[in-house]
Amino acid sequence: MKRKEFIVKCGLCMIGMPALLTSCAGTKYLAAPIEGDSLVVTLQSFINEKDGKPLKYIVAHNDKLEYPICVYRFSENEYKALLMKCTHQGTELQVFGDRLQCPAHGSEFTNTGAVQNGPADTPLRTFNISVLPESIKIKLS
Ligand code: FES
Repeated sequence: MKRKEFIVKCGLCMIGMPALLTSCAGTKYLAAPIEGDSLVVTLQSFINEKDGKPLKYIVAHNDKLEYPICVYRFSENEYKALLMKCTHQGTELQVFGDRLQCPAHGSEFTNTGAVQNGPADTPLRTFNISVLPESIKIKLS
C-alpha cells in the first residue's frame, strides 16, 4: 500500500470514529438501590446533565444483580426494563442506542426485548415497572 492510500484509508477510519465513541460515551451507567423487591431509579437519572434533555435509556446495576438492567424511556410515563442477559447462552449484552447486541455470537434485540437477529430465539426478560412522582420501581421478582 502506498503512503497516500494509507493516509486516505486512515482518514476514512477516523471519520467513523466519532460515531463509535458517541455510542459508547452516550450510555449512562447508574448504581441503583434495591428497596424491598424493586430496583429504584430516580426520574432525574434520565435527564442528560449536559443539555437537560431526557435520555432514551440508562443502564442500571446493583451488586446484588447478576446482570445490569437497561431501562428505556419512551415517554414521561412509559418505560421498559430489559435484563441485559442474552437468551442464547447468557452473555452480558451491550447497548447501542435502540438495540442491544451480544458480543458472543451476534444476537440482537430491540428496545422492547424482541429478538431482531439470532442465534437467540427468545425475547429478553422484562420487568414490571411502577412510575412514581420521583422515581420508577422495577419489580425484580
Ligand atoms: S450468547 Fe448471545 S448470541 Fe450466543
